[in-house]
Amino acid sequence: MSSIAILGFQWGDEGKGRIVDLLSGRVDLVVRFQGGNNAGHTVIKGDEVFKLHLIPSGILNPGVKCIIGDGVVVNPAVLIDELDDLKGKNINTENLRISGKAHLVMPYHIILDKAREHRLGKYNIGTTHKGIGPVYTDKAARSGIRTQDLLDREIFRTKLEEELSLKNSIIEKVYGLEPLDIEEIYEDYMLYSERIGKYITDTTLMVNQYLDNNREVLFEGAQGTMLDIDQGTYPYVTSSSTTSGGVCIGAGIGPGRLDEVIGVVKAYTTRVGSGPFPTEEKGYTGEFLRKKGNEYGTTTGRARRCGWLDAMILKYSAMINYPDSIVITKLDILSGLDSLKICTGYEYKGKKYSDLPYHQTVLHKCRPEYIEIEGWKDEIAGVKNYEDLPEQAKKYIEVIEQVVKIPVSMISVGPERSQIIIRDRSLKRRLFRRGSRSTLIV
Ligand code: GDP
Ligand code: IMO
Ligand code: MG
Repeated sequence: MSSIAILGFQWGDEGKGRIVDLLSGRVDLVVRFQGGNNAGHTVIKGDEVFKLHLIPSGILNPGVKCIIGDGVVVNPAVLIDELDDLKGKNINTENLRISGKAHLVMPYHIILDKAREHRLGKYNIGTTHKGIGPVYTDKAARSGIRTQDLLDREIFRTKLEEELSLKNSIIEKVYGLEPLDIEEIYEDYMLYSERIGKYITDTTLMVNQYLDNNREVLFEGAQGTMLDIDQGTYPYVTSSSTTSGGVCIGAGIGPGRLDEVIGVVKAYTTRVGSGPFPTEEKGYTGEFLRKKGNEYGTTTGRARRCGWLDAMILKYSAMINYPDSIVITKLDILSGLDSLKICTGYEYKGKKYSDLPYHQTVLHKCRPEYIEIEGWKDEIAGVKNYEDLPEQAKKYIEVIEQVVKIPVSMISVGPERSQIIIRDRSLKRRLFRRGSRSTLIV
């Protein structure tokens, strides 16, 4: 048995898709376990750019089975578009499987998401408008419709009738919008069923059977720890469990089956949407990072808010997820800055914080305390070995390791598969903690 979770450690968009793509050439199965098409995972393969929202990034590696797991929420129209797009690029999608337990994003979820955001005005969450909050709300309320319901027209119809009458009264009476037509939704979803029905199966059993047979399984996280429904910066979070605990819930495996956790960390911090962001830089540095890092959302195209690396968040994510190592992505973007800052503490009303404060007021209003490191000028996108990085870049990595107390196993210096530096230190630690695992070495 051998399984690895790849998880975002900040507010999403850390480069998870790129790391999953890199590692998935060595595995048998890649599993998404939470989130929906609010995720946008960009993978660059040769001249082609793939933007994946629902289908695991492993799909780009022929022969790898891919699962949209129990905890994912599926918008079937988006899924079909994604399948068509991949087929158009000659990617075989027959290896996909969808959990029958996954919930369906319905048209009313999207309307309710947008309407609520509009109503919240300046207090909005800045959601992706993909219906994520409302679909997980229905799941928790036990009024959701699941992918398996697509396979039984009668049940689907009954559930839709029941749910739509309630949702239409909210849409009309609370938000003053036009009600939705049941026939239209029913017909659309029955057409979707014809297209995706063949992929729907018992993926819980499948994942566990792969693990029983000592096959290599990768769990692909979406969003990041700071967007986790319980552990993130609530209410400015998504509605699913994005952490290592969420892997077990959303894929249906016991905690002991997760062999390794890898946290993906962008070399600086970004966030899309509203909510606290202590190290945000609104001036030159923020603009530099956004421009050079092309920090615009894969899903919504919104400009991402940018700022210095916040090690307070990384220490917190390390505590929550208990990773074996972290991967630093986009180190190449920092080349050219005179000096670099890493936040190692907060100060609020004279009190110093060395751990992430639980109270949102503190997180909203605190002043970040930084250590400052001289930057480096050389571009590093072509560097293959750690030793060949500029001295200051190595120092930056080593300071992160010292502060977060987790080894950095890989450093990404560009979006392409080959632009990765693998370090030995984490492999040694893995040998020490977990026994030998040669499959990770690319
Ligand atoms: P995800 O949601 O965590 O998969 O991340 P996104 O795909 O939304 O955002 C990461 C972006 O950075 C994508 O456009 C990647 O192609 C790109 N990227 C990933 N790693 C690197 C890197 O090391 N250097 C550069 N320059 N770009 C990277
Ligand atoms: P990946 O997987 C970055 C953010 C939204 C918003 C909040 C709630 O690409 O890292 P939602 O639509 O989920 O209800 O929005 O969460 N958000 C993301 N930010 N990357 C993502 O996914 C995100 N998915 C949701 O911007 O602030
Ligand atoms: Mg993304």
